[in-house]
Amino acid sequence: MRHLNALIDLTADEVKEIFARSASLKSGLSRGERPALLAGRVMCQVFEKPSLRTRVSFEAAMMQLGGSSLFLSAKDAGLGGREAVEDVARVLGGYSDVIVLRTFSQRLIDEFIRYSGTHVVNGLSDERHPCQALTDLFTMQEVFGDVAGKKFVFVGDGNNVATSLATACSLLKVPFTICAPDEYRLTDEFLADLKGRYPDSRIEQTSNFKTALKDAAIIYTDVWTSMGQEAEDAERRRVFSPYQVNAKLMGMAPKTARFLHCLPAKRGLEVTDDVMDGPQSLAFQQAENRMHLAKGMLCWLLEVPFK
Ligand code: CP
Ligand code: NVA
Repeated sequence: MRHLNALIDLTADEVKEIFARSASLKSGLSRGERPALLAGRVMCQVFEKPSLRTRVSFEAAMMQLGGSSLFLSAKDAGLGGREAVEDVARVLGGYSDVIVLRTFSQRLIDEFIRYSGTHVVNGLSDERHPCQALTDLFTMQEVFGDVAGKKFVFVGDGNNVATSLATACSLLKVPFTICAPDEYRLTDEFLADLKGRYPDSRIEQTSNFKTALKDAAIIYTDVWTSMGQEAEDAERRRVFSPYQVNAKLMGMAPKTARFLHCLPAKRGLEVTDDVMDGPQSLAFQQAENRMHLAKGMLCWLLEVPFK
């Protein structure tokens, strides 16, 4: 049974297959094609946190491919204690071909995989955001062609998006640099696990902007305060303010570098308007690609043959 829980569960060939399917469905859509590849399939989304892109891109992907989609807040699903998680998982699994979850705890997603008996997608947890990272590397591939060896620089918090990006980059042989204050970097445990799985991976952590941005192909940032960390917001704003992606920082990278942001962005904090809306920004192409990638991923998950 295929799931998309963590990117370490995928091989590089599977990622390339998902990218090829996503690209093919994207170009087909531009010609008005909406093949009913998922006709009769039902996707159920259960979210503990807000979402614009993840929720709507999955729903649009499912509907354009002839399937149906329904949404439940975690409270409506009874995940707040109405019944045991394993019972909710078993019941929903009986109705759905795919369950997409957005949670605080990664453990909740792991339990759904264990008990639901159906395909499960991690639509973001405190630890990971695999659908986002796949979309980001897909977007990088659209712009640069072969991504292997092109330097990916993440400026900001070593959060859920950063861990999934580091994994996606390791899978696709993309050197990954995180430019962050000492106490907000990727953990030693995470890095050791990654190195064990991908011995050739090239991960660098630094707070030196010049070293980080030298030869950058992609400059990426995310919010300084993720969902669930609101109590730390003032401290995070203070610590991360030198890490704002602005014209000066972009000027330290090659002119050919492109800017990515998973969104939602806090304009004026981690990124300035001139960068978000500037010629190097791919942020909205990236956001649209969430839907194309969701299509490729759903087809891979449900093993829809791809000629
Ligand atoms: N990038 C992303 O996952 O956006 P949402 O939180 O709006 O789903
Ligand atoms: N790191 C952010 C990503 C949002 C898509 C968060 O978890 O809030």
